Order: sequence, then structure tokens, then C-alpha cells
Amino acid sequence: METIGRNFYLLRSGERDFHRNIYIKVFRKEEVQLVMVMDPGTKLDLEMIVDAMRELAGCVENLDIIFLSHQDPDVSANVLALLSLAPRAVIISSVDTLRLIKMYGVDEKKLKGVEPISRRIITLKKTGHKIQFVPAYFCHFRGSTMFFDLESRVLYSGDFLAGFNTRKGEGVYANSESWKGISIFHQIYMPTRWALQETVARITLLNPMPEVIAPQHGDVIKGELVFEFLNKISRLEVGLDLMKKFEPEKKLLSSALNDFLRSLGQKFPLLRKKLLKDLKEVGNFTPLFVFSNEKIEDIKVSTRDALEYVWNTLERISPLRDLEEIRGLFGMSLEKFGLTPPSWILEEVQEEDLFEL
Ligand SMILES: [Fe+2]
Ligand SMILES: [Fe+2]
Repeated sequence: METIGRNFYLLRSGERDFHRNIYIKVFRKEEVQLVMVMDPGTKLDLEMIVDAMRELAGCVENLDIIFLSHQDPDVSANVLALLSLAPRAVIISSVDTLRLIKMYGVDEKKLKGVEPISRRIITLKKTGHKIQFVPAYFCHFRGSTMFFDLESRVLYSGDFLAGFNTRKGEGVYANSESWKGISIFHQIYMPTRWALQETVARITLLNPMPEVIAPQHGDVIKGELVFEFLNKISRLEVGLDLMKKFEPEKKLLSSALNDFLRSLGQKFPLLRKKLLKDLKEVGNFTPLFVFSNEKIEDIKVSTRDALEYVWNTLERISPLRDLEEIRGLFGMSLEKFGLTPPSWILEEVQEEDLFEL
């Protein structure tokens, strides 16, 4: 368990590539306390929550509030089990989310929507703490909601600014290496840049501004990276933007990659098998490619990111002695479809950004 703000704690599930973050906030005033858990995850996370509650609040029965950013199973599948252990807890979320959470068979009296709350700011009667709920419309669900703890200035952002893990090393805080995982997650799961920009605008209007942004997957963002990543995310093309704009390039790149898989299979059949396996099953995160049998049919991210991903995978799994030959085959397949290989793949190409996909 990590402390990321005043009485604000982070629990991480164990997956290395794509994990769930579960947060607990303890609102404390002298002897009185209220405890909130944010997006309690799945049954796999229950024991971790029970242990943390024991440490922070005496026992899990002392849980008062379950906040849900939306209703996906990775955030809400634990709700019934947790309610049975903590019977006085209520669930707070948007009405759109609660309508679906009701389907688990949760008693309606337990469900509190944030929309009727004026300016979505609450003062907790028992402890006097102010908390705020901030919409993140269509990021990635209609009723997605974030939670701002004014005491710690931590914004719990749900799937917004979440990412799969691309930072090397230990710890929970983001650095520049985290951006790649955030960018790819958003390209796949967010509908359009417009939705991202709306959410960024809502965050920048918060007063005071958050010091920490804590998402449901990936690294916790703090310091200068808060502004940097908000800035970057508002310029990122995602979902439908990519589908529309890059359709022709994606077709070309799919054909080039299929051509490469064919020529790789002639010379290095085992390596081709390994590459296909790696591209089809990427641990706990979703694959970046849509396959039909052994052929790439579609690409879920920008062509540049897709190409970089394939090449990085190849570099990781190829024996060093064969890498130059594989580099040649890869470049030939790209060129065959009119794609200029980027400089970071073909070292002899000196100019930057030749490959403008
Ligand atoms: Fe989600
Ligand atoms: Fe999620």
C-alpha cells in the first residue's frame, strides 16, 4: 500500500503489464472517520481491500462509501461481495452508471447519484471534508465520473489518463516513459479527441487545481507531468478520429506486415510463430491488432505506434545474429507497399520522420 496524498492510499493488483489501481481515502476529524474506496475492482482484489481496511480503519465493516467511476467489470465486479462485508456502505456514481450497477441486484436504497448534487460538491457532515465529483463524459462511458478530494488535491480519474505499463523500474509514479502506455490505451478505448478535450477543460477549471491525478490503471501522475500529460492528451487522436483519418494507411501497413510475416515464415518459421503469438496475446492488455487466422485485418492504434510495437517485439524476440537480416526483410516489405521505413528501424536512414503515417 502506497500513500499518494493526505490519507489517500493506493493498492495495486499484481499484473505487471496492465494492473488495476484501487484507492482508499480516509476522511478523519479527531475521533470521527469516514472511509471511501474508489473502484474496488474484481474478486481477485477483495483480500487486498480487506487487509488494507483492517490496517487503515480497523475492519472492512467500517467502509462507508464505494465510489464508482463507471460500471466496467474491472472496476465494479466486487461491489456485491464488498457490500456483504460492509453492510453500511453506499455506492456513489453517476445515474447512468447506477442504472447498470442495479443489475447486479444491489438494493436501490444503496445507490446515490451525483447529478442532483449542486455543483457536484458535497461537504461530509461528520468530518467537514469537501469532495467534488467531476464528469468525464464519454471517457470512455457516457456517465464516467471522476472524484476530486479537496483535502489532498488528488483527482481520482478512473480510466481517464489510465495506461498500460510502459515505464521501466519500480515505484508507482509516472515519468516520461509512462506516456506511451497512456497514449495507446486512449487510442484504443476513448471515442474521440473531443471527449478528451472536454474532460481536460473540466479538470483545468477545478479550483484549486489537482496536484496529483490518480487513474484506475498504470502510473500515478504528479508535479509537472500533470500539465504535460493533460496537454498531450488534449492533442491525441483516438478511437473514431484514427479510424476515419488513417484508414488507407492502416490498410497499407496491414498488407506490408502480412507480407513481412510471409517472408519471415520462409526464412525463420519459428520466429514467425513466436511473433504471431506475441502479437495475438499481449498478457493482460488487449492486442493492438485484429487477426483473421494468421493475417492482420485491422490495427487499433495509429500506424506509427503499431509499427513501433511490431519492431520492438521483433527486437525483443529475435536472436541478435539474425536481427540485421530481419531488419532487411522488414524494410523490404514496407517499401513494397510504398511505406518509407522510419529512421529508428533502418539505421542507415538518417533523416528524422521520413515515415509520416
Ligand atoms: Fe473502463
Ligand atoms: Fe478500466
